[in-house]
Order: sequence, then structure tokens, then C-alpha cells
Amino acid sequence: MSQNMGAYTWLISDTAAFVTAGYDVQGGPVTFQRVSTPTFPQNLPRVPLSPLHHTTPPTMTSTAQPTMPPPPKPLLPFTLILAATPSLGIGRAGGLPWPSHKADMAYFARVTRRLPKSAPALQGRKLKNVVIMGRKTWDSIPSKFRPLMGRINVVVSRQEGALGPEDGKGEGEVAVRAGSLESAIELLESVKEGTVTTPATTEVEGSAAAGTQLQRAREALAPLEIGHVFVIGGSSIYKAALELPQTRRVLLTKIEKEYECDTFFPLNIEGEEGKSLGWARKSKKELEEFVGEEIGDGLEDGGVGFEFCMFEREGVE
Ligand SMILES: NC(=O)c1ccc[n+]([C@@H]2O[C@H](COP(=O)([O-])OP(=O)(O)OC[C@H]3O[C@@H](n4cnc5c(N)ncnc54)[C@H](OP(=O)(O)O)[C@@H]3O)[C@@H](O)[C@H]2O)c1
Repeated sequence: MSQNMGAYTWLISDTAAFVTAGYDVQGGPVTFQRVSTPTFPQNLPRVPLSPLHHTTPPTMTSTAQPTMPPPPKPLLPFTLILAATPSLGIGRAGGLPWPSHKADMAYFARVTRRLPKSAPALQGRKLKNVVIMGRKTWDSIPSKFRPLMGRINVVVSRQEGALGPEDGKGEGEVAVRAGSLESAIELLESVKEGTVTTPATTEVEGSAAAGTQLQRAREALAPLEIGHVFVIGGSSIYKAALELPQTRRVLLTKIEKEYECDTFFPLNIEGEEGKSLGWARKSKKELEEFVGEEIGDGLEDGGVGFEFCMFEREGVE
């Protein structure tokens, strides 16, 4: 089976697991653009950072009286989810390194769809989880299976046309392009705060159709509330996410066999580097609590053993 077939199967399984679940957001792929001068810092704070909040230094008024800083804004916690070989290989030739791994694919689909137990006050809005991915991971999904159903898909790409007008058509879900991980965070925070906006211009992609897509994005995102936020790869997005203070959890499927790989997870989370950054493996019970399902022992798929595990960065709640 080719490498691309590996990715294909992953996505088929992901979709098939939820094909009867239906969906509630109408709209095709759209592009998120900033509407005003960017205010997000170019270089985000590096890990480890604690507590899990933005901090704003006090400002001085003209009478030299210090003003109280605004209350700290809680950050949206990010969870990375991936499957990797013992040498942390995650990809090959734009697809997955292994021919097929149905158990992990189904786990990925269940976990990224399952909503948090303790939901925020919804005020009439619908809770949805988010999957953030790099453009190459998005490209590895056959167009008829994207956006991934039941979740807000955020695709990080510097290319304005990364999401084609046909992407996801008929699937009834929304995909949004963000020009950077920081823009993705900005977008999700605006959804959370109920202030999601579209750009004043409808010409961001040089066509009226783009304007229609942006309007659809606003309409699709406005009634939503953010549940779990999952970063689903690939390597470059994992790397950027690991540097964010809100990345607090990693769900790793350890595949107990080596496959030829050209793409790797950027952190040996169980090694010295991971430990020095505060990462620690959590118990099976804690994993079960987070993912909301029981985890079996001695798992294997197609004769290859694998293990679901969870890591959290200590020092952050
Ligand atoms: N085993 C697993 O669990 C798993 C999970 C996911 C993916 N994968 C595999 O990983 C491979 C893909 O990973 P990858 O690292 O090559 O690609 P990727 O992270 O999926 O996508 C890279 C692209 O994302 C955009 N991007 C990345 N960082 C950005 C930033 N800071 N700002 C704006 N855009 C940014 C760029 O898109 P533009 O070029 O459009 O600007 C870049 O070319 C595939 O083989 C896939 O199958 C494996």
C-alpha cells in the first residue's frame, strides 16, 4: 500500500466514524484575515511559562499614577495529538509512514470530537472542538473528507489561496485559514468572546467569492463556543505549538515498530529535553479521564503493538 494510502485510510476512518453524527455548521472553506492592525506579538513567550495567563505590565497615566492592569485573560489550552514511531517518526512523503492503523484513526476521531465534560456557559451557542493543522496536513486529506466533520478546522498557511473554493463543498463544515498560529489563536479567542468579525473588505482574495466565504465564516463561527483545541500536526505546527504557554498536554500514540519516515515530532518528550521543559507522563487513569473513555492494555493493530499515552507540562493547570 502506498504512503498516500496511509493518510487516505486515516481520513476515511475519521470520517466514517462520524458519518451518521450529522453536522450543524453550514458553509465551505473560508479564510480568516485580520481586520485591523495586528496586535499579537511576533514572538510569543517561550516555555516554560506559568501561570497560564497573559500578563500586561501596568501603564502610566499623564499624572504618573499607575493604572491597574486588566485582569489576566485565561489562555485557551492546547492539546497536541499524534502517533509516532519509537524514533518519533510521524510522516513520510506527505502521508503517514505506516500502511494503516485503524485503531489509532478511530481513537483520533473519537477523542477530537468528544466535547469537554465541564462546558463553559453557552448562552445559546453550540460547543465545538477545534482542530488546528498545517497546510500540508490539510493537503493530505482527500478533498471529499475535509473539513474534518464536527470540528472547527483551522488551517495554518501563509498562502491566501490555501483553501480552494471547492474544498469541503457539500460536507457542511467550516474550515478557516489563519496566516499564523498566532492568528489562529486570535481567531479562536474572538469566537470565545463572541466578537468574531469579518474583514471590512470583501476583496482579501481578490474576488467576490472570497467575500462570500468570509461572510459564511462569520455566520458559521458566530454561534459557536470553543471546546477542546487540538493541534493535529504536522511537524512544523507541533514545533510552533510546543513553544506556546497554552500547550499543556500531548496525547501520543506510541507505535511500537519503526517505519521509514521523513517527518518527525520535534520533541523527545520522554527524554531529558522533555523533562527539562517540565513534561511528565500521566497515569492511565488520568488519560482516561481526559479522553473520556477506557483505555485497553496490550493493544495491537495488524500485529503491531501500540500504546495510548498522555503527557502534561507541569507548572501549569
Ligand atoms: N503521525 C501523525 O500523527 C501525523 C499528524 C499530522 C501530520 N502527519 C504527517 O506530517 C507530515 C506533514 O507535516 P509537515 O511538518 O511537513 O507540514 P505541516 O505542518 O502539516 O504544514 C506545513 C505548512 O503549514 C504552514 N505553516 C507552518 N508553520 C507556519 C507558520 N508559523 N505560519 C504560517 N504558516 C505556517 C505552511 O503552509 P504554506 O506553505 O501554505 O504557507 C507550511 O508549509 C505529513 O507526512 C503528514 O502525514 C502525521
